[in-house]
Amino acid sequence: MRDELIKGYVKAFGAMPDMLYFSPGRVNIIGEHIDYNGGKVLPMGISLGIYGAITWRGDSLCRCVSEGFNHEAIYEFDLKGYSESDDFTKYIKGVLYVLTKYKGAKFDHGFDLYMTSTLPASSGLSSSAALELLISHIVNDEYKLGLSNLDCVLMSQAAEREYAHVNCGIMDQFAIGMSEKDKVILLDCATVDYSYFDFKLDGATLVIINTCKPRNLSESKYNERRAECEAALKVLKAKYGKNTLCEYTMAELDSVKDKLTDNLYRRARHAIREEIRVEEATKAMQEGRLKDLGLLLNGSHKSLKEDYEVTGLHLDTIAEELQKSPIVLGARMTGAGFGGCAIALINSTNKDEINKLMDDTNEIYHEKTGIYYKYYYCESSDKTGKME
Ligand code: GLA
Repeated sequence: MRDELIKGYVKAFGAMPDMLYFSPGRVNIIGEHIDYNGGKVLPMGISLGIYGAITWRGDSLCRCVSEGFNHEAIYEFDLKGYSESDDFTKYIKGVLYVLTKYKGAKFDHGFDLYMTSTLPASSGLSSSAALELLISHIVNDEYKLGLSNLDCVLMSQAAEREYAHVNCGIMDQFAIGMSEKDKVILLDCATVDYSYFDFKLDGATLVIINTCKPRNLSESKYNERRAECEAALKVLKAKYGKNTLCEYTMAELDSVKDKLTDNLYRRARHAIREEIRVEEATKAMQEGRLKDLGLLLNGSHKSLKEDYEVTGLHLDTIAEELQKSPIVLGARMTGAGFGGCAIALINSTNKDEINKLMDDTNEIYHEKTGIYYKYYYCESSDKTGKME
């Protein structure tokens, strides 16, 4: 990838780059749509990611080329003044914007940046967060802002919320900016306490399946779910005073059921039950009880389908068809949903056997949806950083 990256940069800008960076994508094993409800999540950085090659300029221009986004075009803006845009540069501008706002950074010289990616864009593997972290690190190094890895995470999240206008939780940026190879992160989103444990799947394999379905309206639906959770929380809080949905019990939720619409009740039920599943899944993973972990993945998908309503035909077909196979321990959507990706925990390390399963299921998927999915073997990765 290093050679491809350098070649791409040279083709775009006609010179050699000064620095190379990598930022991983992420999968979340379990704990979906609860990072913004004060819940716990179990994500990890993955080997699919965004590669960036950069040279700093003497003037205030920023020139960006993305191999996966209209690669012949140079997207350009000037640090002296830029407006919002609807292409990938919004994530770059967003990071510069929040670093100026919160860290007092003063950017006077720009860059030539070429990026190429193994992370499918808009697929729910957090390509936007990967890009935000990439830029945070690049800029932090050049301008000696002294930001820690966690600062870069928080700034990237602020960029997504304040500049890209997606009211996201902290999971994606955290997973990408803090991941360690061969580790899963247990992150408590209420306190931002975290710990790592081994990503060890004895005899099993984790596969990522990209629905390849364009994600329509996913951002507005995401923001809608957040608002629903806030509305449910308001009712619970008036009675019990606790600050986040995931702190409540089912008994407490049931006691206010008559004050909630059916939708709000089910959104809150998902959050409360998903939090419990994360705790159980953490133990199951640590103790190597992969069968139990698989059942929890299935339970998570069902809840995201029926209570949270963020799955849809494509994700349901993948998860439910795979769940029927005797070698699949569990399968669920991962990330925000509304298209995007699923994961499957498969009780085999035999690639021929797994490929056959994935290809056969792809035919069923094609019959039901008219498109084919793509799948990848999930490998963990280190956090965003300079490439050695
Ligand atoms: C998106 C958001 C995350 C999280 C997930 C759902 O990926 O960016 O903060 O809410 O959806 O778990």
